[in-house]
Amino acid sequence: MQIEDVKNIALEAGELIRSYFGKKFEVEYKKNESNLVTEVDKASENLIKEFINKKFPSHNILAEEGGRINNNGEYTWVVDPIDGTTNFAHGLPIFSVSIGIQKNDETVLGVVYDVMMDVMYSAEKGSGAFANEKQMFVSNNSNLKHALLVTGFPYDISDNPDNALEKFAALTKASRGMRRLGSAAIDFCYVSKGVFDGFWEVSLHPWDICGGKLIAEEAGGLVTNFKGEQINIYSKQILCTNGKIHNKMIEILCRN
Ligand code: IPD
Ligand code: CA
Ligand code: CA
Repeated sequence: MQIEDVKNIALEAGELIRSYFGKKFEVEYKKNESNLVTEVDKASENLIKEFINKKFPSHNILAEEGGRINNNGEYTWVVDPIDGTTNFAHGLPIFSVSIGIQKNDETVLGVVYDVMMDVMYSAEKGSGAFANEKQMFVSNNSNLKHALLVTGFPYDISDNPDNALEKFAALTKASRGMRRLGSAAIDFCYVSKGVFDGFWEVSLHPWDICGGKLIAEEAGGLVTNFKGEQINIYSKQILCTNGKIHNKMIEILCRN
């Protein structure tokens, strides 16, 4: 499998999504009124799945809107057909297509396409991380007071006791600022590029994490849970930083 094939299908899905942006499309609720799925999420996912089934029929698929297809292959495509659905549904141009590919349980390839900025982020295990063709590196800042951070909130925030708001307040006070963009995959890529020094979130899913985590690691970033332990794509907590502010963020995340 070539990384160019993966980039091409992410681009094709992105073009489809862009063609609907600002237009009318069907929107349904998932578990609550904050958790949306649009017909465009489904169309993007179908496009990517059809490509995988045709070109790589032995590969498994774990995609947000369609669950798991297990072909007992050694490769699994972990797909978020639109990461940032709320933004997309409201006409805010921050969303992405995220694809991570695992060989057995190790992520070997990650692609995140920022649809409206038209930037293709990508990484292959051991080969660095790129924004289009330009290699990316995390920031060099070790001072949390000078750090720009980003986070996100789970859809069940109103009844989830681990609601992140205290952590949000504490880290906002301890840093230069906190942002909430609404696409976890883009958050990982902005840490990879050195725009943000750190990204944290209390409850993510494998399709939010898989591609972006590898991209951040290949850019020199560190990705763990809030205790500093190694994680896989099924861990919910994510702390992704330039490595230099990691321990300071852990101290605050564990205290609050
Ligand atoms: C969401 C986005 C958001 C994050 C949420 C995710 P979706 O994904 O990544 O930034 O805060 O936790 O669920 O639903 O737009 O694919
Ligand atoms: Ca997502
Ligand atoms: Ca999604």
